[in-house]
Amino acid sequence: MPKFALLAVLTAAALSPFAYAVSSQTYTWKNVKIGGGGGFVPGIVFNPTEKGLAYARTDIGGAYKLNADNSWTPLLDFADDARWNYWGVDALATDPVQPALIHQATGMYTNSWDPNNGQILISTDYGKTFTPSRLPFKVGGNMPGRGMGERLAVDPNSNGILFFGARSGKGLWKSTNFGVTWTQVTSFPSTGTYIPDASDSSGYNSDKVGIAWVTFDKTSGSSGSATPRIFVGVANKGSTNIYVTTNGGTTWTAVAGQNTTYLPHKGVLSPAEKALYVSYSDGAGPYDGTLGAVYRYDIAASTWKDITPVSGSDLYFGFGGVAVDIQKPGTIMVAALNSWWPDGQIYRSTNSGATWTPFWDWNGYPNMNKYYSYTNSLAPWLGPNYVDVTPGNKQIGWMMEALVINPLDSNHWLYGTGATIQGGRDLLKWDTTRNVSLNAWADGIEETAIQGLISPPSGPSLLSAVGDIGGFTHTSLTAAPKAGFTNPTWATAADIDFAGLNPATVVRIGTGDSTSGKQVALSYDSGASWSPHYGAADNVSGGKVAISADGATVLWRTGSNGVQVSSNSAAFTTVPSLPSSAVIASDKKTATVFYGASGSSFYLSTDSGKTFAAKGSLGSSTSPVKIIVNPGVTGDVWVSTDKGLFHSTNSGTSFSATSGVTQAWAIALGAPAKAGGYPALFAAANIDGIGYFRSDDAGVNWVKINDAAHGFGSASANVLTADPRIYGRVYIGTNGRGIFYGDASGIAPPPTTTAATTTTTSGTTTTTMPPTTTTTSANPTGTAPAGAYGQCGGTGWTGPTTCVSGYTCTYSNPYYSQCVPS
Ligand SMILES: *[C@@H]1O[C@H](CO)[C@@H](O)[C@H](O)[C@H]1NC(C)=O
Ligand SMILES: *[C@@H]1O[C@H](CO)[C@@H](O)[C@H](O)[C@H]1NC(C)=O
Ligand SMILES: *[C@@H]1O[C@H](CO)[C@@H](O)[C@H](O)[C@H]1NC(C)=O
Repeated sequence: MPKFALLAVLTAAALSPFAYAVSSQTYTWKNVKIGGGGGFVPGIVFNPTEKGLAYARTDIGGAYKLNADNSWTPLLDFADDARWNYWGVDALATDPVQPALIHQATGMYTNSWDPNNGQILISTDYGKTFTPSRLPFKVGGNMPGRGMGERLAVDPNSNGILFFGARSGKGLWKSTNFGVTWTQVTSFPSTGTYIPDASDSSGYNSDKVGIAWVTFDKTSGSSGSATPRIFVGVANKGSTNIYVTTNGGTTWTAVAGQNTTYLPHKGVLSPAEKALYVSYSDGAGPYDGTLGAVYRYDIAASTWKDITPVSGSDLYFGFGGVAVDIQKPGTIMVAALNSWWPDGQIYRSTNSGATWTPFWDWNGYPNMNKYYSYTNSLAPWLGPNYVDVTPGNKQIGWMMEALVINPLDSNHWLYGTGATIQGGRDLLKWDTTRNVSLNAWADGIEETAIQGLISPPSGPSLLSAVGDIGGFTHTSLTAAPKAGFTNPTWATAADIDFAGLNPATVVRIGTGDSTSGKQVALSYDSGASWSPHYGAADNVSGGKVAISADGATVLWRTGSNGVQVSSNSAAFTTVPSLPSSAVIASDKKTATVFYGASGSSFYLSTDSGKTFAAKGSLGSSTSPVKIIVNPGVTGDVWVSTDKGLFHSTNSGTSFSATSGVTQAWAIALGAPAKAGGYPALFAAANIDGIGYFRSDDAGVNWVKINDAAHGFGSASANVLTADPRIYGRVYIGTNGRGIFYGDASGIAPPPTTTAATTTTTSGTTTTTMPPTTTTTSANPTGTAPAGAYGQCGGTGWTGPTTCVSGYTCTYSNPYYSQCVPS
């Protein structure tokens, strides 16, 4: 089977018709630890043969393999720009006969957002390497119903045989050669009619969810021969949705007596009981479900039994995950797909569903009996400050489709949620002391979509704007943050920027997707604390943001309300002279200067963003992506576009196109190779191929810094920032695999703890920033102390900086310090 072709890298400049050279340099790439997952985990699969072997699949960040210490190792980091859709894993199968084999159905979307067909990725070495088998249709790893499954399964008696259930009406497919080639099972009677929302013109919710799951009944056959009995669940609502074959897939019939009211999410075999457990929900998931059921199908007797754990008003959700304990036949668990309030719910039965016990119950409202102790020490941000979907602090979770008990260890269980993986290793206590340990156990899983990154010259080295989980000040690159940004708390932060001369002053913007209200926030302590920008109009959100060098002016290219500007916390006003699609940037030295670009035009403002004037041309560019500014030189700007990388040293009056760069996306400037030299320039770009590059000579020569093992997914979706303090270090924010930081080989390893120090006093975390270079006026000597509540500092303040007795000069913001009672 062919290996993946490495991306071509030009090593001999003499072969190039251009006056530039591209070499490559080894970089060490690691995730910046957010920890705890950060996104939906729709599937977890244990191998039934090799103890402890398990995989988790995600919808936007690839798949992971479980380690003995409960942490996870990513498997699909090689996916590069051409293979970004590998990070959408719609199904995963681990081979019961040859445990080293793993198959994954990958592809992100079946609508136009993903132009590529899907593929089955085949590994024969536990996921260290993969070979793709191309499918003649799309796969939707991030589509509705992605938690149903698994829709890919290996025959446990004859492991060269696999079945895969497609979406989009493409039907059921079979391979007889370990997944290398596939043919449609034309005798299968249904391709699935269920569509979540036919009116969705994007095609996302209006596609057929298709075949939901494939379950071999191993007990119907014998080792070495194809398993005769196979159950297949289909996303049909109100018509037959569970089929069976008894001849290995030649002919199929509806399983008699089935209840077709809801969609079958899972069909899990309990071999010793010869029973099939089916969870149902009234929607495809993962966000919906207000009704559902759980059924047990007795295969020998051909009878169905409704074993739904709750009824009446207690049933306000559908069911997702189903787990059976292979070691203890009759012990089963089911998860409410979405019990949004007060928390998720899981039920356990030790008598095949005749009776159940819940994970929590009411002890006189509002008190809850929680039959577990909860630990999220590996990802403390999942706790109280995490952007929660309803009031109250959820511990159990939501979007619970993946629920599994280790088939070789009854104490070991795991489940996926909308935010993380949880589980424990003392599950049998549920049946004895009725109190188990529940742990957030997604260490190693970094499944976030990064929207913006900054690396200021002082204070913590990295701050992030993150999809779905807000964003963080990363005071360490190797330890999970204790809390995300709050006040305001948004699900998604769209962008973040710092003031060049007051780097502790930071602005972030939200997308309006969780709470209404102000979608601009300011921090004067490097993101440790925030306050809403009250000059922002309600319900205006999204876009990009830039803050002036002194921190006084915020320029905001909103999502759909044009470009707006505010100085000194005044109300935002429209900036008519900059197109509403413009990319924007602030100068890092001169407070009045901002930049913009749209189409092939570059714009300059010298009046704090009030007005912009068109300057030089960006060649034939139609869509600028990013403007970055040399932090040491006002007017030295770079613009990446669909037509290349453009440089101006005269505030955009004229530009030169960078030789050899045909396309560029995220760009960044970092610490120079030599003190006083030009900042190191980083680019996600097409320079004889798409990759990540660094130039130490302002774009003349380039080194490729990513390798075959680190593709970073879609180049156009990623963000970059470079460290102004550490030469060679760059941070790449991906669309699904979190943040990576890379250090060049041959350079002494820099510290991973960033410059801020954190002290904890009686439960309150205080982050103390190192001294910053600011423009605060020199300490005036010989002036009398300021009086009670008088001003005692701030940008431009030339008055007293001490206070009368009994008062202490207290920092309020960069413009104002005040004498408050000691
Ligand atoms: C099928 O399931 C629905 C929903 O649980 C239930 O209301 C209905 O009574 C069931 N039908 C039969 C025939 O059991
Ligand atoms: C289970 O144990 C935890 C930790 O000791 C405790 O907080 C909780 O109250 C216990 N649950 C019940 C229902 O006793
Ligand atoms: C913001 O949106 C909410 C919900 O749609 C609406 O109730 C409110 O009136 C809006 N506020 C403004 C200022 O438009």
